[in-house]
Amino acid sequence: MVKITKSTRSLFLSCGSFSLSFSLSLLFPCCAFFAFVFFLSLLSRCVCACVCVRVSVCLERPDLRLGVLFPSQPQVFFSCSHVLTLFPLFIITSSFNSVCCIGAGYVGGPTMAMIALKCPHIEVTVVDLNQQRIDAWNSDNLPIYEPGLDEVVKACRGKNLFFSTDCEAAIRAAQCIFVSVNTPTKKTGLGKGKAADLTYWESAARNIAAWSTSDKIIVEKSTVPVRTAEAIEKVLLRNCPQEGVHFDILSNPEFLAEGTAIDDLTMPDRVLIGGKIENDRGTAACAALCEVYANWVPKERILTANLWSAELSKLTANAMLAQRISSINAISALCECTGADVSQVSFAIGKDSRIGPKFLNASVGFGGSCFQKDILNLAYICECHGLQEVADYWYSVVGMNDYQKTRFVRRVVSAMFNTIRNKKIAMLGFAFKKDTGDTRETPAIDVAHGMIEDGAKIALFDPQVPEEQVRMDMGEEAMKSITCYSKPTEALKDAHAVTIMTEWDEFKTYDWRAIYEVMHKPAFVFDGRNILDHAHLSEIGFIVYALGKPIDPFLKSAEGA
Ligand SMILES: NC(=O)c1ccc[n+]([C@@H]2O[C@H](COP(=O)([O-])OP(=O)(O)OC[C@H]3O[C@@H](n4cnc5c(N)ncnc54)[C@H](O)[C@@H]3O)[C@@H](O)[C@H]2O)c1
Repeated sequence: MVKITKSTRSLFLSCGSFSLSFSLSLLFPCCAFFAFVFFLSLLSRCVCACVCVRVSVCLERPDLRLGVLFPSQPQVFFSCSHVLTLFPLFIITSSFNSVCCIGAGYVGGPTMAMIALKCPHIEVTVVDLNQQRIDAWNSDNLPIYEPGLDEVVKACRGKNLFFSTDCEAAIRAAQCIFVSVNTPTKKTGLGKGKAADLTYWESAARNIAAWSTSDKIIVEKSTVPVRTAEAIEKVLLRNCPQEGVHFDILSNPEFLAEGTAIDDLTMPDRVLIGGKIENDRGTAACAALCEVYANWVPKERILTANLWSAELSKLTANAMLAQRISSINAISALCECTGADVSQVSFAIGKDSRIGPKFLNASVGFGGSCFQKDILNLAYICECHGLQEVADYWYSVVGMNDYQKTRFVRRVVSAMFNTIRNKKIAMLGFAFKKDTGDTRETPAIDVAHGMIEDGAKIALFDPQVPEEQVRMDMGEEAMKSITCYSKPTEALKDAHAVTIMTEWDEFKTYDWRAIYEVMHKPAFVFDGRNILDHAHLSEIGFIVYALGKPIDPFLKSAEGA
């Protein structure tokens, strides 16, 4: 007969407590937490009971059954079940549930929206000094164009995702603060034109120090020079008026690419978290951030490293990616001289598993806010360490990019009989790549300036870039030679030539036969992204220049003229 001992009684008690609290929680939602605790308690006691039964079977002691096992030591049963109850509670309460991000830009906005989506138990507040940007994040017209972003933001905004300009309140409330402010290239002073400008980072750090009243984990999301965390720690420690507040600094560089940010964030190749893993606090801070990502990123893709390795990895990744583009662009120039086709060359070498196929498309050059600034920054750091040869190696990657843009403009001018004065040149695309409206460092800026210098009239169309943005990038003087159109047909009508600056998919679907009809003859296409069907265009009658492809005989003779 089964003896009713303390252990079995506790099992029935848990069962009753759970049923009662669950029923109450249906009437009063605030009881849900207690229902959850009793559920855990019940679950853990059941697990212990099952273990008891299993042990009794293994030991072939049928007398050892639920309730008779450990009759004299019910505390063993209780200890086991309490540990099992408290463990999940510990896990839940040890991770943070309130994070804030300083900087609501291309990185801060999408990354925080993804954390909010995947971690409904975390309240995420994104703050920025720029009221207009915050208003846009709170509207139906988000400040950045990114496929899939609208849906993610709409799913959590107002629930556990908030955008605000109240930095002080957000900093005070957060347990963990991501810093995702801009770190552009310095325009003046020491290291001008090369070093990273950390003014925004330092000002964010000073605000964190001034307004923090409890311990915080500070996460570097911005791309920063190696050993920035050290400098930031000094700013935080020397400026925090509240005694006893502790800051743990982590580096968690962002590897997303604009245009594919949501996919990159949903399934990243890796998440890198750098911290002071040599001490317990650093290890715990790293573990807490790992836990956030573990809500959706497979554990084997979450990498931890020391702080300096994480900081340097981001600069190195961008420098390596840009280097691949500059390398294939260098080969594109040689292809044009030799009759080789750069697409065939990149396809052939990309099949080599040591090289791989990505980032091998020849183009008018790389752009975006990161590549150039990060390579210059990396080279500058090398210079500061007396490594001039290493610095020069990286500077040459930027130099090759500039050469490619200049070379493109030279082709346009020489092909069109060495003069483009007062000729209407349609420019399709202005963003630095497709699926983004970002124009920072876009090659289109230098190409447009180059053609304007030769007297061209530019007719510009980009599906995502508004005229005000073009005006800011080009300046008032250049805008006298630029007209922005909202329809491609208007930009192309009566044009002498078309230049493709961005690889927007829609350009491939245009009716190029109809476009040919409304253009001046000879009608030229200069494909700076190698996206169009060049054989088809030549068949229609266009004179086509494609980067790194065998040169059209018409262009060869024009060059000789
Ligand atoms: N854009 C990318 O594709 C990308 C990818 C990976 C990493 N990064 C890095 O991430 C960082 C941010 O890049 P981004 O493109 O999002 O920049 P961004 O210019 O789009 O956004 C930065 C935002 O920070 C705000 N800000 C600056 N100082 C502030 C302060 N003290 N308090 C509150 N807000 C402040 C600015 O107003 C701005 O809105 C940079 O270091 C960049 O190198 C960018």
